[in-house]
Amino acid sequence: MSHAHAPSDLYLVGWGHTRFGRHESTLEELIAEASTEALTGSGIEPTDIDAVFLGHFNSGLEPLAFPSSLPFLALPEACGVPATRVENACASGSAALHQGLLAILAGAADKVLVVGAEKMTHAGPDAVGAALLGASYDYAGKSSTTGFAGLFAAVATAYNDRYGDCSQTLAHIAAKNHRNGLHNPYAQLRKELDFDFCNTVSDRNPLVAAPLRRTDCSPVSDGAAAIVLSRHPVAGARTAPVKVLGFGQGSDQLPDGRRDPLAFPAVTRSWNRALDMAGVLIEDLSLIELHDCFTIAELNLYEAIGLTGRGDGRRAVLDGLVEPVGRTPVNVSGGLKAKGHPVGATGVSQHVMVARQLTGTAGDAQLPSASVGAVQNMGGLAVSSYATVLSAV
Ligand code: COA
Repeated sequence: MSHAHAPSDLYLVGWGHTRFGRHESTLEELIAEASTEALTGSGIEPTDIDAVFLGHFNSGLEPLAFPSSLPFLALPEACGVPATRVENACASGSAALHQGLLAILAGAADKVLVVGAEKMTHAGPDAVGAALLGASYDYAGKSSTTGFAGLFAAVATAYNDRYGDCSQTLAHIAAKNHRNGLHNPYAQLRKELDFDFCNTVSDRNPLVAAPLRRTDCSPVSDGAAAIVLSRHPVAGARTAPVKVLGFGQGSDQLPDGRRDPLAFPAVTRSWNRALDMAGVLIEDLSLIELHDCFTIAELNLYEAIGLTGRGDGRRAVLDGLVEPVGRTPVNVSGGLKAKGHPVGATGVSQHVMVARQLTGTAGDAQLPSASVGAVQNMGGLAVSSYATVLSAV
């Protein structure tokens, strides 16, 4: 299918979000908190839910590998409807959300609860590294001292070789996202780490996988986010609904050797499909939440989504385009960098962050004007990518 068609009616009618960071709570407690808040905000009863999609990566982080029915512990009245775990590495959250949209478009459901959740911090660095490398064809099951950071370090090295040293640009991106994260109550790293700190290798900012420093990485996080999708706006919802204008998905070959490390074609494909379906141009977007699992990802994503030309991504930062006061603010929430990256929760969280902006409920992070926003969320080394365009109603 080459041409996408705009969805008729699809809405986000409620959302919930735990703080991201280190939690003593169990996975089911995190799911319960986010799901209950989303349901309450939506104004619908648990008995009105027709299906549940739960985004969760796991990959050995948790012994329990069958979490699809966990939301029913907090919402027993909803128990019995189809409930499915959706897994697509770091894009599991958006994968679950898109499955919810498809279920509504297929006529199989009217109201869908989408949850994204991950518990990581209990596992320790070696187990986390091994679990994340489960998303790499080349390194799954192999020992590594640099984990997934090593794979994105190779992207940064390729970028440096092709376009010149980007270390300072990466430090600017880290500083921007940390600044933005200060205003996000859900963010894990709410501390101002300025350009000089991020640009300097030090005891407090060591190299994790050269050339990437600690400040070039998203942290290891626990957390959950949830969204109620509906075919119609719901009377009694706590906030105005948010309309889904378009969505798209793309994929790429899994082995590193079969991909140009900077091309990110899955991203471009998912992005173009979502914007085509929505009938909007990138210039029309009031904000974008990009998958900055590492700062080099955000830089290369500027180019893959066409915010700048190839090799010109640094202009987006140096010219202030992506700042909250710029033409196209990117990661006003602090992004994965400051907000945190509980893998399965991330995609759902990104949609919540845009929904808050579009409904004027983003608190201290609120942009003066936000009417249309987009999310891009990817799995592995840009092997799978999802994009969604949302608008205020
Ligand atoms: N950015 C900035 N500061 C960070 C940080 C990050 N990503 N991670 C931790 N810190 C800070 C902590 O807040 C702490 O600060 P404090 O001393 O002021 O309290 C300090 O660094 C030490 O924290 P610690 O957890 O011991 O750091 P660490 O060196 O063990 O872990 C990383 C840092 C970057 C190695 C780890 O977060 C990591 O592996 N991230 C990548 C996760 C990943 O690959 N995700 C999948 C992406 S696809």
